[in-house]
Amino acid sequence: MLILKTINEIEQMKVSSRIAAEVLKRLEKEITPGISTGELDKIAESFISQRGGTPSFKGYRGYPASICSSINEEVVHGIPGQRKLKEGDLLKIDVGVFKDGFHGDVTESYAVGTISPEAKILKEITEKSLYAGISKVLEGNRIGDISSAIQHCAESNGYTVVKDFTGHGIGRSLHEDPQVTNFGKPGTGLRLKDGMVFCIEPMLNAGSADVEILKDRWTVVTKDRNLSAHFEHTIAVVDGKAEILTRL
Ligand code: MF3
Ligand code: CO
Repeated sequence: MLILKTINEIEQMKVSSRIAAEVLKRLEKEITPGISTGELDKIAESFISQRGGTPSFKGYRGYPASICSSINEEVVHGIPGQRKLKEGDLLKIDVGVFKDGFHGDVTESYAVGTISPEAKILKEITEKSLYAGISKVLEGNRIGDISSAIQHCAESNGYTVVKDFTGHGIGRSLHEDPQVTNFGKPGTGLRLKDGMVFCIEPMLNAGSADVEILKDRWTVVTKDRNLSAHFEHTIAVVDGKAEILTRL
């Protein structure tokens, strides 16, 4: 079921979304070799509570932390812990914030120190594919227009898109309709209209698109252990176009 949001509700969603974006800004300066992902999680959790929010992910289907931290071949849902960041790592941080009844959800990929040229290009193209998707958010367009723009950007640059995880509607629940896949055909799917709020979140792999889940039952890795990158924004359709709620 699609839940359209009123202008007022979108204003409220700006609050949780903004805090989520601020968490990433706060963490960015800590992202250096030697810090553990568990320490990043602690900083995020206390930042969120200082701002009067709660972490959307903690307890979601039993997820144990406030952020997801996924390194190199880890695609999404990496659990923070003792592991320390190393020079050259490609780190993805995903964070969700719940405040005043609504969620906001955002992801960015980061270079730890200097990364390989291959990792750097993958990271840049993944962000570019997010914005290629966002550029299709216009009233009258369809979800498939977003999906296909992401897929085209990825594949024309020699990358594959992960098919097992998708973007999603967001609001009073972290995951609502519609699903926003990172592959699809233009002119297909739900028509976009004012009041829709959803997350667009391309995950691009340097090798094959196949993924698997580790024994911790959360961490998603590429099957061939090649690099993966991920970016995400929470987007509202307002006045027939995209408003990025998780951009500072
Ligand atoms: N941004 C991801 C998603 O929308 C993060 C979910 S992590 C979880 O699926 F722990 F909440 F599952
Ligand atoms: Co999401």
